[in-house]
Parts: sequence; C-alpha cells; structure tokens
Amino acid sequence: MADLDHEIQRRRTFAIISHPDAGKTTLTEKLLLYGGAIREAGSVKARRGGAHATSDWMELEKKRGISITSSALQFEYQGHCINLLDTPGHQDFSEDTFRTLVAADAALMLIDGAKGVEPQTIKLFKVCRDRGIPIVTVVNKMDRPARPPLDLMDEVEKVLGITIVPATWPIGSGENFRGVYSLRDQQVFLFERTAHNATKALVQTTGPHDPALREQLSERAHKQLLEDLAMVETCVQPFDMQQFLHQKISPMFFCSALVNFGVENILQRFLEIAPAPGPLPTLTGDVQPNAPFFSGFVYKVAANMDKMHRDRIAFLRVCSGRFERGMSAKHLRLNREVRLSHPHRFFGQERVSIEEAFPGDVIGLINPGMFRVGDVLSSGPTFEVRNFPRFAPEIFAQVAPREPSMSKSFGKGLEQLGEEGVVQVFWPRFGAREPILGAIGELQLEVFQWRLENEYNVQLRLDRKAWSRARWIDNVTDEVLEVLPMVVKDEAGRFVALFHSDFEIDYAKSRYKGLQLLDAPPAEEEG
Ligand code: G4P
Repeated sequence: MADLDHEIQRRRTFAIISHPDAGKTTLTEKLLLYGGAIREAGSVKARRGGAHATSDWMELEKKRGISITSSALQFEYQGHCINLLDTPGHQDFSEDTFRTLVAADAALMLIDGAKGVEPQTIKLFKVCRDRGIPIVTVVNKMDRPARPPLDLMDEVEKVLGITIVPATWPIGSGENFRGVYSLRDQQVFLFERTAHNATKALVQTTGPHDPALREQLSERAHKQLLEDLAMVETCVQPFDMQQFLHQKISPMFFCSALVNFGVENILQRFLEIAPAPGPLPTLTGDVQPNAPFFSGFVYKVAANMDKMHRDRIAFLRVCSGRFERGMSAKHLRLNREVRLSHPHRFFGQERVSIEEAFPGDVIGLINPGMFRVGDVLSSGPTFEVRNFPRFAPEIFAQVAPREPSMSKSFGKGLEQLGEEGVVQVFWPRFGAREPILGAIGELQLEVFQWRLENEYNVQLRLDRKAWSRARWIDNVTDEVLEVLPMVVKDEAGRFVALFHSDFEIDYAKSRYKGLQLLDAPPAEEEG
C-alpha cells in the first residue's frame, strides 16, 4: 500500500494563470507531453474543439471553443505526481477560474513577453495573493520580439507589487533569440530553430565571461548579456525559499512554449520549489495532510455534463488522508454520512474511475445535487471551515421569466443555479423584486440563460445593467444606506452596494467618512 507521507511529499498541485492568448493552452500541452499524458501536440486543443463532445451541454462549449467544465490534469514526472488545475481562461473567464485557485498550492503566472502584465493577469494574481500561494512568473513567446527583460521585471514589480528574482535570463528575443542563461548554475541553453521545434544545446560555463559562451554568441548578444547580468547582480536579491513561499518574491523564467524551449527547465525547477499539499485551515486549527483520516472540500460543481442524466460533477480537492473508492465520509454541512462510490478523474472531457487519491489530488464525484461549492467531507472528526470565498462580480443583469406561468420553475432554477455558484444572486431592497445576477465573466450569464431554458424550460428576460462594482458594506446604518446610490442584498442577506465606477465608490466614501466597503463578503462562519 502506498505510503501516505511519501504520496503527499511527491505531489504538486498548481494552476497556470494568464491573460487570454499568453499561451496557457500551449504551455499546458508541453507540460503534458513531458508527463507523457499526451503523445502529440495539438491534443489539448483538439479536445477543447469538441472532438469528444457528446451532449447538448457541450454544444455551448463547442460553439465557444472553450472549456467550461474545467478539471484537473494529473500526470507523473520524475517521481512527482502533478495535478495541474485547469482554469478556464479566455475571454470567458468566470468565477470558476477564481475558485479553482482556492484548490491550488502554487501558481504559475504566464506573461506574454511582448505584452507584459495584462488585465486578467492582475485579477488572477490578486486572487493568488489573497490565498497566500507562492507564484512563479514565466515570460512566454521569447521567439517573438519581446520587451526588454528589465522592463518586464519592473512592470511586474510595480503593477503586482511582488519582487522579481530572475531565475533565467534571456539572450535576445524574436529573430535574435539565442537562448537563456540560468543564473543559479551558470548554464546556458542555446536556442536553435529547426523546422518543427527548437533544440537546446547546453553550454556549461563558469560564468558570463567564459570564452566558451562568447564563442557561441555574437559579440553584440554577448555584450548585452554581460550588461544585463551586471545590472541584475547589483539590483536583484538572491532567491530565498521562505520569501518565495510567503509571496515576497517570485522567480522569473523565460521560455517559448510554442517551440518548446525552456519549458522543461521551468518544470524541473518548479517541482523543486513549489510546496507539497498544505493543511486545511479550520476554525479549530489546521488539519494536516497526513492526518489519519480523509478530508476534502468541493471547489467547483460542474454543470450538467449530460443533460439526460442531470449529471453534475462535484470537484473535490483531497486535503488529508487517503481517499478510497466506496468509502463513507461525513458531509459536514448536511451532517450526514455519504458513500463516495463513483469517484472519477477527468482529463478534459474524458473520465476514468479511480480507486484511491491523496492530498492535493482532485476527484470528481457524480453529484445528485448534494454538493455545493465549499462543502467539506471528513471521515474523521467534525470541524468547521470558513465560508468559501466569493468574489466581487463586475457584470450585472436583472432577470425575470418571460411568461408569468414560468415563475415557479424560474424560482427553482434561480435557487439551484445560485447555490451551484453559476452566478451570484442579489435582491433589490425596494421596487420590482426581480433578482439581479452578478457575474465575473459574460459566460456566466450565458450559461445561466442556457441552463434555465434547457433544464428548467424557462425563457428569460435579461436586462443588462451598467453597474461594474459590487462592495459588501461592513457597517450598515440607515445613514449609510442613504448615502449609497444602490444597495441590494446577497443570498445570505448581507447588504451590498453596487456602483458604476471607482470614482463613484470614492465619492460615496468621501460623503460618509468611515464607510467600509469590502470587495468580498466578510469571512464568517455559516450560521
Ligand atoms: P491561451 O490558452 O493562453 O489563450 O493561449 P494559447 O496557448 O491558445 O496561445 C495563443 C496563441 O499564441 C496561439 O496562436 C499560440 O500558438 C501562440 N503561442 C503560444 N505560445 C507561443 C510562443 O511561445 N511563441 C509564439 N510565437 N506563439 C505562441 P494562435 O495563432 O492564436 O493559435 P493557433 O492557430 O496557433 O492554435
């Protein structure tokens, strides 16, 4: 029988965060190739393109060319068991993307070398920061003209507020890309373009002045490298593991995912420094991963993957102990034992039954409506955990059924999809009691509408609203409610103010000193 401690120590569970088009799919694919999980490039996209689409639900995915039902990709590499949490990226970014990060122990932040830090990078970085997980920065597309590395470093530091410690240094970019210099071991990986891919030739040097290196590079490239490294030496602090684990620093790597250059180095170093699965914080202390009982939490509930069967999958991250097929565990919110008889592992849309799983792993449980995001299972003691984080929506729409006869089904759909976390549901305090939906990405509204029509037979009237900020009010008084232009209540009855801009928020704060607006619901125990 596998040793629990050993299984924990060899696991790495992480997510790649990036702005659309930075190359996340391409990088994921290269990582999977190293892990032997796929055999040819293009497989991930082919899956996403719907080659395996079997249900109506997937029509929507296929049409949009995206992966709504993201899951975890598990593969082995050099003795490590890697769980790469698939965060749906693209324009259709949603609350699911954020939630997935709650299940990750580390993040790899991918940046396009020509574009630098982009809006979605900032949002995702912020979630990782709030979760306290360490972040590795990877600059991609070095085979294309990229911005100077010092510029990129500076931008990440300024915009994201984290100190960058370069791990590798690029030698040129685009046409002039000659490879990367590894600062730690003073090796140079030379880049050579071939018809299909890049090759890397390793040059072991004694430092940047080594004549062996000079021989390989043009005079100009070598001079630039010397200048850059001299600068790096004076202004960059050395890598420190504790600072990395505490998000004070982020090591930066350079690569070209498309031509598969630099990726394996990143993977190897990442596995060395990224933490193994950590404890589950509870209100009465941490549950350690090697605790003698199984526990885990649901971080995502996937929509009807199969309409005929009303098939729902709850994705559970194992937090402690050994999970075994068919075991029973207590569902803490429902306060009842459940048998976990059909655990699956998902690879894109394909599912495979699993027999056992360990901390850091993700298992998909066929969910007959019993699991919600944030639910915790334990085969040992009962404990309480903090509410699963929710994130401030930025897109709003008021909704109502088209026909009064659909009201009952509408109410049911609204309740169920709200619970599932497809959208956030807010209620106006006055006037027409039509709910307001809040979402982080457009896709969430589209999915909500699609599912109400297809699963509940309700045609919707959906009226987009111009608010773009939601803030939970921490100190509600009648006076506060007077000052704010629009206040609604969330599913838990907490007051939430909606605004059109940051300017409006600042204005409200200036009118009422001491007004406390939170960009997420205050963390509190479920009553
Ligand atoms: P995403 O998942 O982050 O949205 O990005 P994705 O991997 O789909 O990559 C976006 C585009 O960038 C793709 O081109 C991809 O081939 C390209 N790309 C990714 N990594 C690199 C790289 O290292 N170098 C260069 N030069 N390009 C890269 P596309 O034309 O939009 O799609 P496709 O037709 O190639 O599939």
